[in-house]
Amino acid sequence: AIVPVLLAGGSGTRLWPLSRKSYPKQFSNLIGSETLFQQSAKRLSTSPTLTFTPHMTLTTSDFRFIVGEQLQSVGIDPGPVLIEPEGRNTAPAVLAASIFARKTDPEAVLLIAPSDHVIPDTEAFHAAVAKGLSEIEAGKIVTFGITPNRPATGYGYLELNAASNGDPVALKRFVEKPDSDTARSMLEAGNYLWNAGIFLFRAKDMIAAFEAHAPGLLDPVTRAVENGKADLGFWRLDPPAWGECQDISIDYAVMEKADNLVAVPFSKDWSDLGGWDAVWEEQDPDENGVVTSANATAIECRDVLLRSESSSQEIVGLGLENIIAIAMPDAVLVAHKGRAQDVKKVVTALKDKG
Ligand code: GDD
Ligand code: MG
Repeated sequence: AIVPVLLAGGSGTRLWPLSRKSYPKQFSNLIGSETLFQQSAKRLSTSPTLTFTPHMTLTTSDFRFIVGEQLQSVGIDPGPVLIEPEGRNTAPAVLAASIFARKTDPEAVLLIAPSDHVIPDTEAFHAAVAKGLSEIEAGKIVTFGITPNRPATGYGYLELNAASNGDPVALKRFVEKPDSDTARSMLEAGNYLWNAGIFLFRAKDMIAAFEAHAPGLLDPVTRAVENGKADLGFWRLDPPAWGECQDISIDYAVMEKADNLVAVPFSKDWSDLGGWDAVWEEQDPDENGVVTSANATAIECRDVLLRSESSSQEIVGLGLENIIAIAMPDAVLVAHKGRAQDVKKVVTALKDKG
């Protein structure tokens, strides 16, 4: 069986004002009638071909009750919920999940998945995971690769050893978030995929990878798990030990250094909803490029996303082009569509304002 591990700790500032520190995007109905977290959990619950154990979720104290509520309301019994005393990025989280899982099953297989991604074709995703399973017995760490269509700098890149017909391929190299010149040359080279941020491995192999490449995290994360405390059904990682952990992503800590990586290409639609432009794209714009939510109306507009998050507030666009407008009860964002990636600047500016 596969232990699905949902990472639900990030705060997604590029989707302000919907995504907040107090209510990040994974817990919102950004796309579809269920939240991204619920969709992610369901994707890893039942399958005709794969067997999943109950989910392990890693999150911070603020969201621990939301996790249980959101799982139960889609009929899923929450498995272990590990509480990180504070966000330390994904490397400590992945290692904590691996150590925790190995305690009950030395051969545990983990599928680490962000809880804020969109993957509409569940069946195709399960088929990719099944291909990955055939690799991990040999001690490999499996990543899932997306065909790049632009020189994005916000993703990790997987350099393949050989062309792939869809089957797993050994990685030559993992490059996390290249600068734009490097990204452009990798796109031209053609033998690169984007890292989807989803990883499949045996817990013991991931722990071994940390021993080899990020040994400084082993001791504090082990103590954080061992000295953790049961708290209302949650497992609260030990705060002092957690506080000693370096703040670093799994990509920089392990993936860029490991030599036992294998990529399984995933050619179907995938999005990490990394900005309002991506949300616009995932929602199937009409022939004028218009996407509107309930309580939003676009008149003679082109390439716009208009969203109202309040049933008592109508938003109307007239004659707009390339505009993103998001109305929340307490804040409104109006931005040029080409500046969607800069929305995090808004959050910084508001923070500075106090
Ligand atoms: N539990 C927990 N704790 N989750 C976290 C933490 C944390 O401290 N920090 C981030 N996460 C969650 C985020 O909510 C997200 O679901 C996932 O882990 C990945 O973190 P991001 O911060 O979104 O990473 P990224 O988008 O910059 O880059 C990663 O994802 C890309 C694909 O979306 C990398 O893996 C890239 O290589 C990859 O291309
Ligand atoms: Mg992300």
